[in-house]
Amino acid sequence: MQGSTVYLETMGCQMNVLDSELVMGQLRAIGYRPVDDAAKADVVLINTCSVREHAEQKVLSRLGALKKPKKDNPDMIVGVIGCMAQRDPDGIFGKMPHVDLVCGPGELNKVSALLEEVRANRTHAIALSQSMSRRNTVLQRALEHDSVEALDLSRDPAPDENLLQAYVRVQRGCDKFCTFCVVPFTRGPERCRPPAQILDEARMLANRGAKEVTLIGQTVNSYVHPENSRPVRLADLLVRVSDVAGIERVRFVTSYPGDFTDDIFEAMRDVPKVCEYLHIPVQSGSDAVLKRMRRQYTVGQYIDLLDRAREYVPDIAVASDFIVGFCGETQEEHESSLRLIERCRFKNLFVFKYSPRPGTVADRHNHDDVPEDVKRTRNIELLSLQERLASSHNQTLIGTTVEVLVEGFSKAALKAQEAEQLRGEEVAWRRTDQLAGRTRKDQIVVFPGKPEDIGLLADIRINAVTALTLHGEVVRD
Ligand code: SAH
Ligand code: F3S
Repeated sequence: MQGSTVYLETMGCQMNVLDSELVMGQLRAIGYRPVDDAAKADVVLINTCSVREHAEQKVLSRLGALKKPKKDNPDMIVGVIGCMAQRDPDGIFGKMPHVDLVCGPGELNKVSALLEEVRANRTHAIALSQSMSRRNTVLQRALEHDSVEALDLSRDPAPDENLLQAYVRVQRGCDKFCTFCVVPFTRGPERCRPPAQILDEARMLANRGAKEVTLIGQTVNSYVHPENSRPVRLADLLVRVSDVAGIERVRFVTSYPGDFTDDIFEAMRDVPKVCEYLHIPVQSGSDAVLKRMRRQYTVGQYIDLLDRAREYVPDIAVASDFIVGFCGETQEEHESSLRLIERCRFKNLFVFKYSPRPGTVADRHNHDDVPEDVKRTRNIELLSLQERLASSHNQTLIGTTVEVLVEGFSKAALKAQEAEQLRGEEVAWRRTDQLAGRTRKDQIVVFPGKPEDIGLLADIRINAVTALTLHGEVVRD
């Protein structure tokens, strides 16, 4: 499709960010050019998230805004890809009849073919994975697996793509079926990619400039793949990816509390490139709530896990997720979550108000009985406690030196540059310009620096902190 333009918007998690990169690569290979303005594009694709209702409403409002541009240009193709496409294709076509194409996350290697189909036949084009029902045949599963693998195997980043920090998928889908979660239905059963493919991809990314690689999976710490009749586990992958020349840092997200083996902590302790950072969602500080969520561990086991991690790597940074207002959550159960936060010294928290998802066990069997205003209050309580704890922890970092991978200009510097451009002024680097990057523990650091520092590892002495950001100066020797 030489000369055609595509606007691709991504919502949701790291998986979607990676999927969008791969879809864009596929379309670029057949001549599409990415553009920033949806209204003027030949093809508009929204890569969607279904994890909370709010995310789906956002998709619908984006699609609603495309009605007029599509009316003005009937040749425009509007496509919905990703989790919401898989979960509710009929709902999308029903509410948004101007949508031409839906494609689930397991079928994304077919997006270019679907676009052709729409153009040629002027009909709806649909690709959904059948295996999400988990009642399909072994053969069907194998075919779908090959098809979805093809997407990752086709990865060919654009020459101008910023690959400094790259994601590599090691695992798809999830078999845990936490009662609140839609992911096992939208992304299907858990499947781990072969180590050789992961390594090839990491080498290719390193050749194209990647310095930091994050291995991603829904329960990434349970990664296992047979190789010559011996299992390759996540810890083995961490070692192998660290050995790839050019890669300076290796991370992995997201971990499931139940599946940790000590070899992962050993790799963190012994392999210098493996970052001291864990993202382990706990969801609640109450055993009764964890049981209703079917999380398969207790609060005590979670605390033991963090203690064990800190025995290996004493200053490890731990991020976590909490859901507030899950079905039947009492004030006492909520307070247990506050107590757990007091105890765990989290680096960062992601707190979500429970949102019932159609098809999940919780939606079918429990009542979403915590009022919205109570959810809101609990959400604020968790976050403000965390903010207080994180600010006081960050105070202890003042005067220390941290290693930062310099990602680019800080948000404020970018804004100032944009304003200069709008005023028609020449954008020039000033000594006071702020750069931003991340530490090995995933903390954001802002400091004055030169554009040529971007892409490098720099030592920064911290001189001021907030709950989420560290400020400092480059230590130049
Ligand atoms: N293991 C996954 C989890 C995916 S969902 C991962 O890679 O992160 C991300 C987070 O969203 C979960 O940890 C949970 O805290 C939150 N979440 C999932 N379903 C939810 C729901 N129905 N309502 C509110 N929050 C939810
Ligand atoms: Fe969702 Fe639980 Fe899997 S939160 S992604 S079902 S581990």
